[in-house]
Amino acid sequence: MKIAIIGAGYVGLTTGTCLAELGHEVICVDNNLEKLEKLNRGKSPIFEPGLEELIIKNQTAGRLTFSDKIKPAVEQAEVIFICVNTPPKDDGHADLKYVEQVAREIAGTINGDYKVIVDKSTVPVKTAEKVKETILRYGAGKTNFDVVSNPEFLKEGTAVKDTMEPDRIVIGVDSEKARDKILELYRPLIEKTKAPIKVVSVRSAELIKHGANTFLATKISFANLIAQTCEEAGADALEVLEAIGLDERIGAQFLKPGLGFGGSCFPKDIAAYKKTLEILGLDNSLIHAIERINLEAVRRFLRKIEKELWVLDGKQIGVLGLAFKPDTDDIRNSPALRIIESLKKDGAKIKAFDPQAMNNAKKELPGIEYAENPYEAAAGSEALVICTDWREFKNLDLERIKKLMVTPTIFDGRNIFEPKVMAKLGFRYFGVGR
Ligand code: NAD
Ligand code: UGA
Repeated sequence: MKIAIIGAGYVGLTTGTCLAELGHEVICVDNNLEKLEKLNRGKSPIFEPGLEELIIKNQTAGRLTFSDKIKPAVEQAEVIFICVNTPPKDDGHADLKYVEQVAREIAGTINGDYKVIVDKSTVPVKTAEKVKETILRYGAGKTNFDVVSNPEFLKEGTAVKDTMEPDRIVIGVDSEKARDKILELYRPLIEKTKAPIKVVSVRSAELIKHGANTFLATKISFANLIAQTCEEAGADALEVLEAIGLDERIGAQFLKPGLGFGGSCFPKDIAAYKKTLEILGLDNSLIHAIERINLEAVRRFLRKIEKELWVLDGKQIGVLGLAFKPDTDDIRNSPALRIIESLKKDGAKIKAFDPQAMNNAKKELPGIEYAENPYEAAAGSEALVICTDWREFKNLDLERIKKLMVTPTIFDGRNIFEPKVMAKLGFRYFGVGR
């Protein structure tokens, strides 16, 4: 099938590449020329395990191309995916200007052939209706199309795996013709993985996405609430949460306490859902609470550092991890950035290291020192602050770290070490909820 993907970011690039891998003919369109220049050299503009290899493979096979021209891509495509960013507005609602812009461009391009326009970007309920209205308004009477919602559930760091082995595929359609087209598109994946397909209404599909992200964020804030309780009451959050998660109705995943959730999605998506509830006249205090607990996770962690180190002015602090989570170079809404900014404001000198995110961090966070490796970040530091649970940090030579530091103190925002082991090794060690 001929596919056009508009917006070649984390979602568009992964979706386009995986659809090409499944045998479709895919053009990814983006208006960021720097990204396209890299992609056309077979380089992935983002760090995502396994993605670059798949891009090269499918480019070489002639199934995957990149362009800045939406018109020819849309003209030849049977299915057009909208994968542009939907950032938050000041009031928390989703800013849909890029979605609208793409809808208008599609309207100016579609001809008489039947097209399915798929909204893959995360959007508030009823957005597909607006996309349809926009295409009708600017489409000079062309009506031979359907708008479908096909929300994306991939996680950064495992984007390729999540796309090729999805937990479920959600297809929101209001027409049988569009449903059959999208089922045909996903047939190779459905046959290979036996992934469950949920064919639902367009509005339901849109709500499934906001609902899923809000539920996951709720689990994380709940875990952080338990962690706070454990700190005050003298219990161990990992013991408590492990036992809670053993209840099959609750499940063990997304109950890791720490610095709270960051990234480009949870914070913005729960804010957008909060706004939707407000617009619908519903009580959104649950979302307020999730957000408050999430902010408090970083604040409490900073208070621990200030309490232990007392005066921060002039002290060197090593920071391990800048990405909002491991296996990505993405620093959008990373708790590490908030922590560094606060420590910097108090006069601390920061020496940071991240295995993948330093290039991105250098653009956002000038005025700090970047280390070549974790040991360099530890050398001469009065404390090490762990902000991201990269696997390689778990395997550090802690004896070596101890010798390099001025005072062996570790604030572990992701609980990657065991308090008892750290105490035995001679560290002053502070986890979260332990
Ligand atoms: P991104 O910022 O990485 O990518 C968006 C891309 O769209 C950019 O490359 C941008 O240049 C391009 N773009 C914007 N306007 C354009 C236009 N008019 N024409 C052509 N290209 C245009 O964003 P992302 O992380 O891929 O997220 C995209 C959407 O998917 C968002 O709604 C997000 O909430 C959702 N989502 C993201 C993830 C994730 O893990 N990142 C997972 C699921 C869903
Ligand atoms: C999340 C969802 O997991 C995806 O299903 C969804 O498609 C995506 O948002 C989206 O809509 O964009 P992602 O933001 O890539 O994916 O990362 P997660 O693995 O969900 O982690 C988000 C944040 O929560 C990270 O900062 C992570 O450190 C934190 N987290 C996660 C915890 O603090 N505790 C946990 O137990 C799990």
